[in-house]
Amino acid sequence: MSETVVQHLLLVDDEDGFREVVAERLQEFGYRVEQASTGEVALERLNEFAFDVVITDLRLPGVDGRQILDEAFARYPEIIAIVITGFGGVREAVEVTRLGAEGFLTKPFQFEELVHALNTATEKRRLKAENAYLRAQLQDRFKIDGIIGRTPIMLELFELLRTVAATPSTVLITGETGTGKELAARALHDASPRRNQRFVAINCSAIPETLLEAELFGHVRGAFTGAVANRPGRIEQANRGTLFLDEVGTMSPALQAKLLRVLQSREFERVGDAQTIKVDVRVVAATNSDLKKMVAEATFREDLFYRLNVIPIRVPPLRERRPDIPLLAQTFLDRFAKESLPARGKVTTTQDAQQALMAFDWPGNVRQLQNEVQRAVPLSESDEVDSSDLSISQVRNVSEGGGDTNFTLLEGVERNAIVQMLKETGGNKLETAKRLGIGRQTLYNKIKAYGIET
Ligand SMILES: Nc1ncnc2c1ncn2[C@@H]1O[C@H](COP(=O)(O)OP(=O)(O)OP(=O)(O)O)[C@@H](O)[C@H]1O
Ligand SMILES: [Mg+2]
Repeated sequence: MSETVVQHLLLVDDEDGFREVVAERLQEFGYRVEQASTGEVALERLNEFAFDVVITDLRLPGVDGRQILDEAFARYPEIIAIVITGFGGVREAVEVTRLGAEGFLTKPFQFEELVHALNTATEKRRLKAENAYLRAQLQDRFKIDGIIGRTPIMLELFELLRTVAATPSTVLITGETGTGKELAARALHDASPRRNQRFVAINCSAIPETLLEAELFGHVRGAFTGAVANRPGRIEQANRGTLFLDEVGTMSPALQAKLLRVLQSREFERVGDAQTIKVDVRVVAATNSDLKKMVAEATFREDLFYRLNVIPIRVPPLRERRPDIPLLAQTFLDRFAKESLPARGKVTTTQDAQQALMAFDWPGNVRQLQNEVQRAVPLSESDEVDSSDLSISQVRNVSEGGGDTNFTLLEGVERNAIVQMLKETGGNKLETAKRLGIGRQTLYNKIKAYGIET
């Protein structure tokens, strides 16, 4: 499956004016650009996110361009690097090429020269990865089965999933709600030797306790009222494939015991039957409760916990990988914009919206972000989603300390504006929303969030 993805570019230069102009033009060109004014900041950014391209000045005070190239290639061997310098010597050009840079430009240069260098480098990369296998490997590093993420913590998760997929071991996936546990379970299956067999999912919390047993183990005719025929359970259906036990922490003690036996010997009986059935299933379980704590409180069997927790995989909450937020948001924007208005061009976010998305804590994680974007797309009347289209009214600064002041300030200003406008329109909400330039639903949300009396 091929799709055109936005290229993420890190631009490093200590000359603010120059850097900002170049960044702006690159953005117009379709790149997503992050800027760093020092080598130190550049290293930090590289630590947080897997860029496709780094463009850096060679001479910088402190950490210089060479060190940036070293770090960039050490972390991301496939990154494209282009060096800019004020003093174009042959010696420097040779040196940076030896370090792995694809292009070398001397200031002053025409923007077209930079574009040319970028295109040449990208094309070279493409040719190198012409081989389908290599190309797949390259893409895989940043994505596995639709799980999007470019933060090192996610790249590690992808690698872990790929490694573990090759083994038959039982896996326990933990993580808060909406982090992508089910996606991870599917990725495990799709990357495993069992990929051509079935992936059978069962949500243990969604099925009433009394039905769960028959659902899992199957039943024979007459086993209970309503059992009119023999029926295989999910475990049998998953034979030779993968069984995904979602919300495994909600299982009753009786069922826990029965599941333990399946994990120990891959054996069980259908409800109402004496005949033992043997299966070959790979078990992947997921939970957003703290099973260890439940073991300590004796609500979850310790032996079952150890049988499930053979390979623990933790999917990190979104707030631990904030640099992925713009990438995820843009992916969802593209998806929903295409869905809701196919004729509409590219939809992006304003600086304000971007900041709000970055600052929010996302207790519902990626699912919440996805819902937020889906809701905002039809609300925005232009090709940009603004912060006023977003319902996340709790704007908090993520960076150290002062965050709360920022929150109150923003909140206060916004609240006042709404109260004022409501007064002016005699409490007419439709008119208020119109005059404030925000959607009606956004206004309702904010009125509620700020506790404004109307
Ligand atoms: N990294 C990601 N990239 C793209 N989409 C994601 C990612 N993580 C989650 N999603 C999307 O977010 C939604 C929630 O993901 P998923 O159902 O896998 O979460 P979960 O951890 O199983 O949540 P819960 O504990 O509530 O069951 C899905 O629509 C999924 O496609
Ligand atoms: Mg789930």
